[in-house]
Amino acid sequence: MTDFSTIYKLSIIAFIGFIQGCSCTCPVMECWFVQEKPGRGGGLTGATTQEKSLLHIRTDKQSEAAGSQSDATDIDPSRVYAVTDPSANLCHASLNPPRGSIQKPQCEINPFLPQPSSLKWVASLTESALSPVYLQADWFSASFQGLDQQLGVSTISRAPTGTKEHHVILSITSRTMSVKSRLGEPVTLDCNFWVDPSTPLSASGFAVEWRYQTRGDGRLILAYDGKLDRLADTHETGAFLDFEALHERGNASLVLEEAKVRHSGTYICTIYLPYLLAQVAMELEIVEPPSLSIHPSPLPLAVPGQTLNLQCEASGFAPLPLEMSWEFKGADGKSRSLGSGRMSGHRQAWDGTYSQSSRLELDTSKLDLGRGGEVTCVAAHAGGTRRASVTLNVIGFSSPSIEDSMAMVGVALVLYGLIKFVSWSFTGSGRKTVFCYLNKIKSSFTFLFAANSNFQNPLVILIFLFSAFRVK
Ligand SMILES: *[C@@H]1O[C@H](CO)[C@@H](O)[C@H](O)[C@H]1NC(C)=O
Repeated sequence: MTDFSTIYKLSIIAFIGFIQGCSCTCPVMECWFVQEKPGRGGGLTGATTQEKSLLHIRTDKQSEAAGSQSDATDIDPSRVYAVTDPSANLCHASLNPPRGSIQKPQCEINPFLPQPSSLKWVASLTESALSPVYLQADWFSASFQGLDQQLGVSTISRAPTGTKEHHVILSITSRTMSVKSRLGEPVTLDCNFWVDPSTPLSASGFAVEWRYQTRGDGRLILAYDGKLDRLADTHETGAFLDFEALHERGNASLVLEEAKVRHSGTYICTIYLPYLLAQVAMELEIVEPPSLSIHPSPLPLAVPGQTLNLQCEASGFAPLPLEMSWEFKGADGKSRSLGSGRMSGHRQAWDGTYSQSSRLELDTSKLDLGRGGEVTCVAAHAGGTRRASVTLNVIGFSSPSIEDSMAMVGVALVLYGLIKFVSWSFTGSGRKTVFCYLNKIKSSFTFLFAANSNFQNPLVILIFLFSAFRVK
């Protein structure tokens, strides 16, 4: 069982710290006031009305909001509110753009109805009867998103019935509204909460819930009853809270030990107080660039006129899509595009990563590739561009002439006869070393070289050697 008074004490310290340390100016913010259309009989139609409203933010009741009055004249005076936020979360620079800037932080207010929760990990908070009189007031929930797209704040505020003087009772901030992570790395999803120490609700404990949500899939990642110090059963592995930081500083950040593709999606951090809850939703995207490999590698020697089939395999990347292309860099150092090749469809591996390939038909006669160069496969992905290269060697002569071919046949025949002769003489004279045998072949080569000038041709030599050993 954890003593909730630590939170209480620290809140006071934080409170004093903020009052003294915050030299920031608090904004006057335009917000959408969104509520369900009255008189619709509470159906599931979800019809809402949207009105502009104005919030004068301040950190204590005495101070005036530093921002000057808004010029907006289209705001109904009954929708102008004063909001006291001792935590100063709403006075963050990211929520307070310079005057006249086009970009504005996003903000929405909704009426809020305090009610007990029946969730297993929250129910303990409202076990004891609380002062329901305190709850009889005007409650708002509001959400704010900073200009940097990284700060999100959600608040629950209370105003005595009929007044427009709101006081923030619970606020949650996240500084990681949009997170990108490589595969396998630890990820921290930030979520910090603050409770007004003067509220009677602060003494009765809190609960934390992390949910995951993505298209059609939602699950509980982690739920913690801070009053009974109890974690709810979940099947999620590798997700942690730092309980010390949670109780001492209201730091409810979720740590995912090792990012996996299936972790991509929306995460909702919900903080419960008795009868109240506030939440922030953040996006996590796992972005992993591909690994590339080219087949065949190394490339076989190419003869002009020959068509080589190259395949570039990109694997282990997420998310889709991937763009693949080919480049050639000749001996002159100039690069040029060889097009995108033929892309295959993508396949998904067990770990959720994708693979895809591109096939290139490299027609050495159509393209002016000279004596060769470097062929590069380029894969452009959200996680970065990756490249893989192979060296292309085009043999610098035209295909064998008829004379060459005839010479080859002739040579092969001569050699055949020669080897037959040699092996015949070996069997006759008993043991001779292989060394001697090779020497004989060598001398016959020398003889042939002298006899036929066509043997400068390396290919002919290759074929010659080949046939020589075949015959054996
Ligand atoms: C909260 O905890 C997380 C992880 O434990 C840490 O990365 C983060 O900096 C903490 N935030 C604050 C405001 O202390």
